[in-house]
Amino acid sequence: MNTTDLRTRIATALDAARRRTRELTDAVSETDLTAQHSPLMSPLVWDYAHIGNQEELWLVRDVGGREPVRADIDGMYDAFQNPRRDRPALPLLPPDETRTYTSEVRDKVLDVLDRCRLDGNRLVADGFAFGMIAQHEQQHDETMLATHQLREGEPVLTAPPPPGARAVVAGEVLVPGGPFTMGTSTEPWALDNERPAHAVDVAAFCIDAAPVTNGQYLRFVDEGGYDDPRWWSAEGWKHRRAADLAAPMHWRREPDGWWYVRFGHAEPIDPDEPVVHVCWHEAAAYAAWAGKRLPTEAEWEKAARHDPATGRSRRFPWGDTDPDARHANLGQRHLAPAPVGAYPDGASALGVHQLVGDVWEWTDTDFSGYPGFAAFPYREYSEVFFDRGYKVLRGGSFGTDPVACRGTFRNWDLPIRRQIFAGFRCARTPADAEVA
Ligand code: AVJ
Ligand code: FE
Repeated sequence: MNTTDLRTRIATALDAARRRTRELTDAVSETDLTAQHSPLMSPLVWDYAHIGNQEELWLVRDVGGREPVRADIDGMYDAFQNPRRDRPALPLLPPDETRTYTSEVRDKVLDVLDRCRLDGNRLVADGFAFGMIAQHEQQHDETMLATHQLREGEPVLTAPPPPGARAVVAGEVLVPGGPFTMGTSTEPWALDNERPAHAVDVAAFCIDAAPVTNGQYLRFVDEGGYDDPRWWSAEGWKHRRAADLAAPMHWRREPDGWWYVRFGHAEPIDPDEPVVHVCWHEAAAYAAWAGKRLPTEAEWEKAARHDPATGRSRRFPWGDTDPDARHANLGQRHLAPAPVGAYPDGASALGVHQLVGDVWEWTDTDFSGYPGFAAFPYREYSEVFFDRGYKVLRGGSFGTDPVACRGTFRNWDLPIRRQIFAGFRCARTPADAEVA
């Protein structure tokens, strides 16, 4: 890509992120912006100013070599200095000052973008730092969408419903054993934890052709899955009891069946939609009940990227082209997962559907660095979370923007978390006779 096209691409990605941030924050009142809707989440106005502050640190000061816009607020918007539950008590910038601050930073960044070289040092090569900041804003936009889901009151967000099913997708796909290339060394905006590309030998496995649906999950609920410790790990059962889990978050039992409240709208649950808002322990318990297990991260990525015809790993399940509306339910175009079978054009070479978009998928793998991992450009993005009990999630959700979602993208969270847009699919080790 020539530098003019690259600059345009960067400016477009930054602008798209800011539009989304504005939609998510303009939708609610000033009181709502500064309120904390859950101790798990920040006030929306914290995310908003934190987005601007990260952009200032990396692009105005570091890449641009310019004077600080506001050095006095760095501490307040440092995620490590301030745990989420403490953020509402900080003397946060009020909404109007937040808007002024973030747009002042953005104006400077667009000026830096016009003047800076996009080759040479690794931070700016291929526009990496700009891509990292566009992704960072979109990641917080997904977090803000999760805050909207936790917010009580009248609905304020609207979007067209997701497309319906266009194919019948059921059962499992058998993936033959053998090596494949995991991770990437060439994707310009891939983050440090996705690197480097490395060969992983994965034994034959079966993986569900689609994410587990509400209808399937409901059988687990109805058949007493939440009351039977056989399906739960010791830690999972302890958590199930302590947190009194009985169904996915946001589900409500009504006289006429189960309903969920989604962004303020009450709806009967759709049996064909991927289940969402389950924690890792719930996903693992369902899988055990179904006689299966969660896929490892390597199995998930092989199912998504491996092309048996060429032996190559694709950028995305459907090939090397960037996602569009035919491939996957991404980018907050719809505010719900699409039913299974809605994206036949997004299936992987191995015939596995809806790996990207709809819901994040829990894997059985602890978040850690790949062989040859090197933190870049800062340890606090991912390295400080390695080997601390976080589980890897893959694939992105309806709330994830394409700029922050690749076939190699890795997300992580604690196994008890369910406010994120997370579901799962199951896997299984086949018997020898099935593989032969
Ligand atoms: C990759 C989603 C786990 O939100 O904690 C945002 C992304 N890192 N700001 C998070 C992130 C710093 C991160 N996740
Ligand atoms: Fe952040």
